[in-house]
Amino acid sequence: MIFDILTIFPSMFSSPLEEGMVGKARERGLIHVRVHNIRDFAPGRHQMTDDRPFGGGEGMVMKPEPIVGALRAIEASGPAARSILLTPQGRLFTQEVARRLSLLPRLVLICGRYEGVDERVAEYFTDDQISIGDYVLTGGELAAMVVVDAVARLIPGVLGNEGSALEDSFSQPVLEHPQYTRPRDFEGMSVPPVLLCGNHETIRRWRRGQALLRTRMRRPDLFARLELSPEDRELLEESQK
Ligand code: ADE
Repeated sequence: MIFDILTIFPSMFSSPLEEGMVGKARERGLIHVRVHNIRDFAPGRHQMTDDRPFGGGEGMVMKPEPIVGALRAIEASGPAARSILLTPQGRLFTQEVARRLSLLPRLVLICGRYEGVDERVAEYFTDDQISIGDYVLTGGELAAMVVVDAVARLIPGVLGNEGSALEDSFSQPVLEHPQYTRPRDFEGMSVPPVLLCGNHETIRRWRRGQALLRTRMRRPDLFARLELSPEDRELLEESQK
């Protein structure tokens, strides 16, 4: 899968997308991340990428010409792409959105800055607008990194262990059970004894109970959407004792 990122701060992407599983997936050619500087497509000697808003008001707005110039150059170079603007005005990014994007051959992610992007870019040159949450960042760059990371790990081969992506939180709308590793005793806090019992079925039941309990406490919105089996009800009851 190819990710093309349009930004006025290309260097922000160097380290975050070179480490860990995303970095490995790039080395192995499972994903390609290309970062393009919007400024390179800005006409004129000053290569301006922003300007004052028509109608007045605070801040600056990103001009359409550089972004559209970059989009046209990118789209001419390879498979058809879905172009997405990262903005707090977009629809919410969820695991389901990540899953659908992971099926595409190519994504173009446009990072807005300042007070936003000229609305004609949003309306006529993008296929979708995405927000990663109900808070305002200083730009779309961090949001684009979140999207690349969440989408890349769903591409077959990227995680190595294909089960991991299916099992984790939000594939089913249940939070994950707690995890522990060595040492058994850390500064007087010990690992729940059930995890040391060696009985896989007992451990599975305990984990499911903990996952349900956690979801009910921390994410009542997700819990309300769950269809609990009779076993789930029993485990939830047990885990509160
Ligand atoms: N740009 C600024 N805030 C953002 C957000 N929450 N999601 C996506 N892009 C953004």
